[in-house]
Amino acid sequence: WKTLDDVALAGKTVLVRVDINVPMEAGRVTDATRIEKIRPTVEDIIARGGKVVLLAHFDRPKGKVVPEMSLRHVLPALQAALDRKVIFAADCIGAPASAAIAAATAGDVVLLENTRFHAGEEKNDPALAQGMAALGDVYVNDAFSAAHRAHASTAGIASLLPAAAGRLMEAELRALEAALGNPVRPVVAVVGGAKVSTKLDLLGNLVTKVDHLVIGGGMANTFLVAQGVEVGKSLAERDMADTARAILAKARAAGCTIHLPVDVVVAREFKAGAANETVAVTACPADAMILDAGPATVAALQAVFESARTLIWNGPLGAFEIKPFDAATNAAAKAAARLTRSGTLVSVAGGGDTVAALNAAGAAADFTFISTAGGAFLEWMEGKDLPGVSALMA
Ligand code: 3PG
Repeated sequence: WKTLDDVALAGKTVLVRVDINVPMEAGRVTDATRIEKIRPTVEDIIARGGKVVLLAHFDRPKGKVVPEMSLRHVLPALQAALDRKVIFAADCIGAPASAAIAAATAGDVVLLENTRFHAGEEKNDPALAQGMAALGDVYVNDAFSAAHRAHASTAGIASLLPAAAGRLMEAELRALEAALGNPVRPVVAVVGGAKVSTKLDLLGNLVTKVDHLVIGGGMANTFLVAQGVEVGKSLAERDMADTARAILAKARAAGCTIHLPVDVVVAREFKAGAANETVAVTACPADAMILDAGPATVAALQAVFESARTLIWNGPLGAFEIKPFDAATNAAAKAAARLTRSGTLVSVAGGGDTVAALNAAGAAADFTFISTAGGAFLEWMEGKDLPGVSALMA
């Protein structure tokens, strides 16, 4: 794929696909991270004499105009993050879009309305891709976090104009390549979260790529059940036991060491501050549930982290959203942050829950790279082709 360095930008109108699908409450952006991350690309294009026109989706309007899902609501946060005048166009194609682009002067940015207001976006309709391509001279994709979608604005349009990856896309791809494509070994992957069933492809791919796989959260319980360990009232997918055993066998064959909890924090209630105790993993009472990994597990993880040179992390180790069951996730995150700071570990993390957990632990800033992506990060780790990335290579 090409980068911004490979395309001429002076005097060009540059259509930049960004992901500003940010969380909002009562009409206000509650986390502007994704918006802030597009700034290097915008500044680079403007500095080199290009006119920036932003293409983006917001939420899932399913091909209809849904006023609450208008990108208008993101405009104040966008202007603040870019520190530039942003001209809004009420459609991403046609006269409203071309009029806004014509009205923009040097240094202005144009934001086009939600691409998903057109049914053709998610169908990758060539007519919509043509309509968007007609507005500019160059296409830049800076939306790694939407690259798992084969949509008109992420895939179709790329073959119609000279196309390149933006700075954020470039950084995301390089970080993932360093973590899983061609990493410094040993590599440890941490995979947590509630269910094995949602991360089967991920686990199946990782065991063939990494040296150590740490399984945490609810999905660890399913692996424990598969090994005949009683987990009481814990969340576990008992019907996935065979699948879990198959993953363990695949890992053994590939020389990947799987790490499961050796001690656990159990409680009778799933609520903040619930009375709890730490027990050996084989001693979960029949009326209790596992809500976190225990200190012996965390110590073992730290030793694995210390022996590793690359860490890739997706999913919390326990019920991190309710205290004190965030303890193992916090401690492991802090250990990873410390080892990254001291230069022995390259650490990459992604996924909404994971980033929230690392932020809560105060560890995110020390990680080598935190992806802005949720679904796209997962699909990349699963070894799948991302249409938005492949389209840049065609
Ligand atoms: C995301 O938030 O992960 C991306 O913006 C993609 O959104 P989607 O899951 O609605 O395609």
